[in-house]
Amino acid sequence: MIQGPVLVTGASKGIGRALAAALAARGIPVIGTSRDPNSISDPLPGVRYLALDQGDPASVEACAAAAGPVEVLVNNAGQSQVGAVEDVSVEMVEELFRMNFFGLIRLTKAFLPAMRKNGHGTIINIGSLTGPFTPPYQSAYAATKLGLEAFTKVLRQEVGRFGVKVSLVVPGYIKTYIEPRSIAPAGSAYADDLTAFRKARDKKMDKASPPETAAAKIIKVMEKQNPGPVYYTGHLVPAMGFLKRLLPEKRLQKMVRGFYKLD
Ligand SMILES: NC(=O)c1ccc[n+]([C@@H]2O[C@H](COP(=O)([O-])OP(=O)(O)OC[C@H]3O[C@@H](n4cnc5c(N)ncnc54)[C@H](OP(=O)(O)O)[C@@H]3O)[C@@H](O)[C@H]2O)c1
Repeated sequence: MIQGPVLVTGASKGIGRALAAALAARGIPVIGTSRDPNSISDPLPGVRYLALDQGDPASVEACAAAAGPVEVLVNNAGQSQVGAVEDVSVEMVEELFRMNFFGLIRLTKAFLPAMRKNGHGTIINIGSLTGPFTPPYQSAYAATKLGLEAFTKVLRQEVGRFGVKVSLVVPGYIKTYIEPRSIAPAGSAYADDLTAFRKARDKKMDKASPPETAAAKIIKVMEKQNPGPVYYTGHLVPAMGFLKRLLPEKRLQKMVRGFYKLD
């Protein structure tokens, strides 16, 4: 049984908020983060909010120090980008990595020593289907999430023997506030294909599963005695995870382009 505290990054909205609400409703102490906790108009009862800008190392260190030891860390906060590789500057890619990847690693490292010494702790990272399925126009986002999958699988092998459990939960489309930063300069050679991709993506988002679906899955993983490395959540997503293991990469990429009505 989870005693807490559970630290949920990005708990002001979307999946993080649904997760924080579900945990608090069970009486589990929750620490939730936001870049600006004072701007949360309807804070959840039972949730202690802390400031965290994951792209800023000083903010990450301050957040970890203010939180103190936690039983569970859910690395949920994330941002997304959409744009052709040619059109997205390296600086924009670096910015996304600072937030989705390096900041997350810094935060994880802040909690690991105490978890290892206690012989107990759980870390759940939130991935994305964009990682394993690599659709076009999300190269930076997919790279941060594929990198996170590798990081999760490696870390879990290192710390498992100290009683620390590490898993990745991979959501499909979940109806939240996530809005990818769109990079589409005038005259882009990719404009038509990118517009078609955005249209298909927005349609899928309209029919996406509610954040409570993802939150319930994350709690299930949290409660497992011996969790596996990767779990999928969302409409048809476990089946897609199965296909990913089955199909050759070339077939998979064709399927993904079909999924977004490209070609
Ligand atoms: N929704 C989907 O379809 C979907 C699919 C696959 C994966 N995911 C992943 O699920 C996770 C949650 O996303 P969501 O869909 O719930 O998005 P969301 O509704 O936009 O919520 C994102 C959360 O991240 C926080 N955040 C944003 N930038 C931050 C920064 N620089 N530092 C710290 N926190 C920051 C936000 O808090 P503040 O704005 O208050 O700081 C917010 O609470 C992300 O990792 C995302 O990649 C989502």
